[in-house]
Amino acid sequence: MTQAVPQDPAALYGRATPRIDGPAKVTGAARYASDEPVGHPAHACLVTSAIARGRVAGFDLADAQRVPGVLDILTHENVGDALKSSPPGPDGKESTTTLESDRIWHDGQIIAVVVAESFEAARDAARRVVVRYHSETPAGSFDDEGVTEEASKPDSGENPARGDITRGFADAAVQVDAQYATPTQHHNPIELFTTTCVWEGERLTVYEPSQFMHGVKAQLAKQLGIEPRNVRAISRVVGGAFGSKGGGGGRTVWIAIAARRLGRPVKLVASRSQGFTIHTYRAETRHRVRLGATRDGRLTALSHDGQEIGSRPSKYRVGGVDVTARMYASPNIATSTTIVHADRNTPGYMRAPPETPYMFALESAMDELAVALAMDPIELRRVNDTQTDPVSGRPFSSRSLMQCYDAAAARFGWSRRNPAPASMRDGDWMVGYGCATACYPSNVGAGAARLALDATGKASVAIATHEIGTVAATVVAITAARALGIGIADVAVAVGDSDLPAVVVAGGSNNAATAALAVAQACEMVRARLAEAAVAAPDGPLHFADPATLQLAGGALVGPGNRREALADALKRVGGRVEVYAEHVPPGLPPTALRTVEGGESVMRRGTGRDDVTAFAFGAHLAEVRVHRWTREIRVPRSVSAFAAGTIVNPLAAHSQLMGGAIWGISAALHEETELDPRAARYVNDSLEGYLVPVNADVPSVEVIIVPEQDTRVNELGIKGVGELGIVGMNAAIANAVFHATGKRIRELPIRIEDLL
Ligand code: MOS
Repeated sequence: MTQAVPQDPAALYGRATPRIDGPAKVTGAARYASDEPVGHPAHACLVTSAIARGRVAGFDLADAQRVPGVLDILTHENVGDALKSSPPGPDGKESTTTLESDRIWHDGQIIAVVVAESFEAARDAARRVVVRYHSETPAGSFDDEGVTEEASKPDSGENPARGDITRGFADAAVQVDAQYATPTQHHNPIELFTTTCVWEGERLTVYEPSQFMHGVKAQLAKQLGIEPRNVRAISRVVGGAFGSKGGGGGRTVWIAIAARRLGRPVKLVASRSQGFTIHTYRAETRHRVRLGATRDGRLTALSHDGQEIGSRPSKYRVGGVDVTARMYASPNIATSTTIVHADRNTPGYMRAPPETPYMFALESAMDELAVALAMDPIELRRVNDTQTDPVSGRPFSSRSLMQCYDAAAARFGWSRRNPAPASMRDGDWMVGYGCATACYPSNVGAGAARLALDATGKASVAIATHEIGTVAATVVAITAARALGIGIADVAVAVGDSDLPAVVVAGGSNNAATAALAVAQACEMVRARLAEAAVAAPDGPLHFADPATLQLAGGALVGPGNRREALADALKRVGGRVEVYAEHVPPGLPPTALRTVEGGESVMRRGTGRDDVTAFAFGAHLAEVRVHRWTREIRVPRSVSAFAAGTIVNPLAAHSQLMGGAIWGISAALHEETELDPRAARYVNDSLEGYLVPVNADVPSVEVIIVPEQDTRVNELGIKGVGELGIVGMNAAIANAVFHATGKRIRELPIRIEDLL
C-alpha cells in the first residue's frame, strides 16, 4: 500500500473539505428512500399493539375495510406461510416477532398492516381495526415483578477479570462503592423509518434507509425464501441513523409481502411514535462500580457489574465492562454482565452503545474516588494512565489520553478550579467544573470498491458504503483524490446500493477506515497498472524506472528526479481508461470476510478483540455547569473536549461529528429520557415534543480540539474513526461538574432540577 501513515504528524490532517453531497441536501435534490419515485404506489399504515403482554384474541376488520380505498389488511390470521424466517434482532439473533403468531411481546408491536390507495385512507382504516386481546400484566423494567435475570458476557466472550479482586480491595487505603443508572433513550433520527417495495417479476427492489445495504438484501431474501440475487436494496442518503437503522426491525418484510400480494409497489412511512416501538433503542442500565486505591491514587482494584434491560426472547446486550475494565492500570479486575428480560421491544445499538452508559458509571466513580483522595480528578487519571491494556496485557496501538486532558485543560482554564465542592459562585449561580474520559474502540471491516479513471482525469468510485450523515461519500472522494493525484471535484461517488461492491455495516465507527482502505487499495491497483505500462514504454519519459517508485500526483504520473508524464498520456497506453475492482480484508480477519459481508453478516476487527494490540481512540471532556442557587436550574455555559483519533481524513467533518457527540453527551446527562408507564410497560413521551433534546440555548459553547496522533498499528492508514467517540463520557463530566457545583452526587441520569432541590 503506497498511502501509508504519514511520518509528519501535521500531514495526518486531510484538508477541511465540505461534504460533496451538501448542495444536493440543502436544495432538496437528495433522494431519501421514501422520495424515490415508484410507479403508482399503494400506501401502508401499521397497526400496533395496545398491550405489552398477551395474545391477540381476534380482529374485527369490517369497519376498517369499509374505508374507501382500502386494498388489503395483513394480520397473522391471513398471511399464511409467506414469512420463511423471522426478522432477527440487532445482534442477528432471536428477537421479538411481528405477524408470525398471535403472541404479543411488547407495547407497540406490529400486529397488522393496512394497505390503501392513499396514506390518509390507510391511516384512517388502521385506526378502525378492532383488536381483541387476552391481556397479561406486563413487567416493563428493573423493579417490576416478573422480569427475569440472565448472566451474560460482552462480545469478546468473557467478562474481563484479572488478578485477585478480594486482595485488591484489602490492599486499598481508599474505596468507592456506588451504584449508577442510565435511562431508556431513543435515537429519533429526523428521517422516519420508511420502506418502499417494488416487485418486477421475481425481482424485489427495496428502498429503505439503512446502515447495511448487503444486510438488508440478504436478510430480506432469507425472510422471503428467495434468492439474494433477486433482491436489491437502495438507500442513497440517510437522514440520521445512530445505530437505529443497522438492523433489528420487523417491518420491511411485511411491506415486501404486501406488495407481492397486491401486485403493486407499497410504501410505508411509519409515524414518529411508532418509531419508538417498531425499532430499537438504548436500554436502561444499572451499575455497581467499586474502586480501591492507594493513598497516592493508584488503583488496586476495579470491579464493575452491569445490568441491562432486554426483551423476553433476545440475548442482545452491550456488555460495556469490556471497555471500562481496560481504561486504567488496575492490577485486579472483576466484572459481570446481566440481561434483565422484560416485556419490551428489543433494544439495540445507539451511538457508542456500550461506552455511553458504562463509562458514565466508571467516570462518575473515578470522580468520587478523586474526592475521597482529595486529589484533582485529572491527576487521578494521570496516575492511572497506561500504555498497556490491563486486561490483555497487550499494548494500546496508541493512547494519547493525557495529551487530550492537557490540551483541554489549558484551553478550559482548569487551573482556576477550586477543588472544594460548592465553593465557586458567580452571583446566584453555583459554578462547577467536571471532567471525564472519552474512548471508543477502533474497528475496521472488510470492504470492496470499483474505481474507474478516464483520460480526462475524472474518476468514479462505486462502493456500497452508507451516507448516514457521517460524510461517508466525502471520505471516499478525499481518499481517491489524494491517491490518484486529482481534485475532489473530479471524483464521482456512488454509494448506498446493494448492487455496488460490499462493505460492512456502517456501525462501530469503522466506516472511514474500512471505506478508505478499500478505495486506497483500488487506487493502488490503478497506479500499479499505469506504472507498469509506463516503464515498459520505450518512447515514454519513465522507461526503465522502478514501477514501485512512480506516484500519481498533480494530474501526472511522477517518477524519480521529477520525471513525469501527464495522466492523459499514461492512460492512453492502457486504452484511455482504467477500471479496477479491489477488495480489502484487514489483517486478522479471515480471507472469506468479504464473502461473509456479501452474505449479510458484518464481521469486524474489533479494537478490543485483537490479538496484537488493543486499539482505542481517546478523549477528554471538561465542562462548566452552573446551578441556580434558588431554582436549581442547571445550565452548561461551556465545554471543551479534546480527542486523538489517529489520522483525521476530513477535519471539518470530524470536528462536526465530535461536536455533535459532545452535545449528545450533554443531552444524555440533562435532557433525554424515554419515560415508561410501569403499569402498561408503555413509552409515554413518544414524540419530539415529549422527548427532550438540547437546543442551541442549551449548548452555547461546545469547543472541540483535535490532538495530532500518529498510529502505525491500528490499520495501514492510521484511521481510528470519530463517529461515536465524542458522546462518550460527557454525561459523567456533567454529573461530576454538578457535584462540584453543589456538593450533591447524582448517580442516575438524566439529572433534573428536582434532584438538586
Ligand atoms: Mo453505531 S450505534 O455502531 O450504528
